[in-house]
Amino acid sequence: MKIVLLGAAGGIGQALGLILKTQLPAGSDLSLYDIAPVTPGVAVDLSHIPTAVKVNGFAGEDPSPALENADIVLISAGVARKPGMDRSDLFNINAGIVKNLVSVCADTCPKALIGIITNPVNTTVAIAAEVLKQKGVYDPARLFGITTLDIIRSNTFVAEAKGVNPEDVDVPVIGGHSGVTILPLLSQSGFEFTDEEIALMTTRIQNAGTEVVEAKAGGGSATLSMGQAAARFGLSLVRALNGEDNVVECTYIEGPGDKARFFAQPVLLGKNGVEKVLDYGTLTTFEESTLNNALDILRGDIAKGESFI
Ligand SMILES: NC(=O)c1ccc[n+]([C@@H]2O[C@H](COP(=O)([O-])OP(=O)(O)OC[C@H]3O[C@@H](n4cnc5c(N)ncnc54)[C@H](O)[C@@H]3O)[C@@H](O)[C@H]2O)c1
Repeated sequence: MKIVLLGAAGGIGQALGLILKTQLPAGSDLSLYDIAPVTPGVAVDLSHIPTAVKVNGFAGEDPSPALENADIVLISAGVARKPGMDRSDLFNINAGIVKNLVSVCADTCPKALIGIITNPVNTTVAIAAEVLKQKGVYDPARLFGITTLDIIRSNTFVAEAKGVNPEDVDVPVIGGHSGVTILPLLSQSGFEFTDEEIALMTTRIQNAGTEVVEAKAGGGSATLSMGQAAARFGLSLVRALNGEDNVVECTYIEGPGDKARFFAQPVLLGKNGVEKVLDYGTLTTFEESTLNNALDILRGDIAKGESFI
């Protein structure tokens, strides 16, 4: 199994590389690429950790040597938010970066599963899909927007509120990955909340990224929690590719399209990526109206990515 990180020298890339070096199955290959010249050094650094995971690092303009024979590619290359910015402010720079990197993936490893971390995810996934389509290699089952950070944040905040172990909480999060498009299904958390608690908790989860951006005061956005989130998602892909049953994650994919062309919801993962898009159950009146209010924004974000290509 070969896993490639594009943007590997960044805040997320380094955290993610560290977790994968310690948690990937023995015999895996971890390939790091970033335009930053430090990247081969990041690989040497990780390679001193005693696990049976081989690490190689590549820098420079051409990502293709890193991508050869990739099974999974996780992309966090790009710029991150500073205080006062929302995710859509990153579009101008990150759209071009994702376009170029996915184009090289299409040429070098057209069958790889691709997970997009680079924001704005609502839009960058649509860009990736259009690039792959133009190259004639688009398979919706193999392209994912990684929204796992919304799920782990929801689990943490619910556990805090209820005084339980966060590892025992599992909140599905559907919709998109920015502001009001993030919809945690707190009604399915297994815990009781008042209407007021649900409204406050939903807003906190939707704005949790901004909480980090402001706390870091210009030093970037979530990197360590995102590293953990991307590692959880990446390791789920590895388990699914290795034939494990019942690997389920919420992720932003092109599914049935009844709400929007791309939509985050639970999916069953298998050897070819998305095995089955799962039903997200019955929504409460609050969840239904929150979702309906966000759909125009989500569809607009998607259209922006489609028209960029
Ligand atoms: N999906 C999510 O939940 C989520 C959460 C947090 C951050 N993000 C996004 O992830 C991205 C990365 O965040 P970060 O904190 O790691 O940023 P960072 O600035 O620390 O790292 C980004 C890295 O990308 C590299 N890079 C830039 N252009 C590149 C290119 N063309 N090819 C290869 N590498 C390139 C940079 O050299 C840098 O090392 C941002 O867009 C951020 O908004 C997503």
